[in-house]
Amino acid sequence: MKNLVSASVLSADLLNLENEIHRLEKNGIDMLHFDVMDGIFVNNITYGLPVLSAIRRVTDLTLDVHLMITDPLRYVRRFAESGADIISFHLESVSDTMATINAIRESGAKAALAIKPATPAEAVYEFLPYLDMVLVMTVEPGFGGQSFMTETVEKIRLVRSKITELGLDTHLQVDGGIDAKTSEIVKKAGANVLVSGSYLFKAPDMARAAELMKE
Ligand code: DX5
Ligand code: ZN
Repeated sequence: MKNLVSASVLSADLLNLENEIHRLEKNGIDMLHFDVMDGIFVNNITYGLPVLSAIRRVTDLTLDVHLMITDPLRYVRRFAESGADIISFHLESVSDTMATINAIRESGAKAALAIKPATPAEAVYEFLPYLDMVLVMTVEPGFGGQSFMTETVEKIRLVRSKITELGLDTHLQVDGGIDAKTSEIVKKAGANVLVSGSYLFKAPDMARAAELMKE
């Protein structure tokens, strides 16, 4: 399965977002990761629908939207209409999981289910046939720049082996503390979509940093 890099714009220069987006395009980044936080599901507030639509107008990059919000079912259609190509929501949210997956798919976007570090791999198994991607959080969601949690590696391995056992080609995304070094660990465990914020945006050579993550 092809390895892909999704750049988390939470670490971008937000006042120069258009330039930052073009920098991603020029440096071989596959997707733009857009973290939406509501201040209730996680202890932080970021950006939402109008910012996503503005981004959609200036790029053809795949927009990978990560909803860290309490009731994603209420909003998934509007995120799809605002330009999301992939929508991840959390299993730990209050929304009904299957209803939210269906709403995302009906709105034309790809559906992904995210789990926090304390949620076991088994919790996603029954939903795998309906998902384009699983997101295993490798830090506690809420902030960029945190350290990778090694205890999540076994969970990545379990989710990937279940995907293989079921004969699916579901993407497995990881998010939090991903750099060239931790990429190697998570890829070995079965992850193929690597979200990275601080490492990529701080790298002196973004293209090289992305290559190192993918190879
Ligand atoms: C954290 C967000 C991440 C974050 C990753 O809750 O979901 O996408 O921006 O940033 P780094 O790569 O700095 O850990
Ligand atoms: Zn994220």
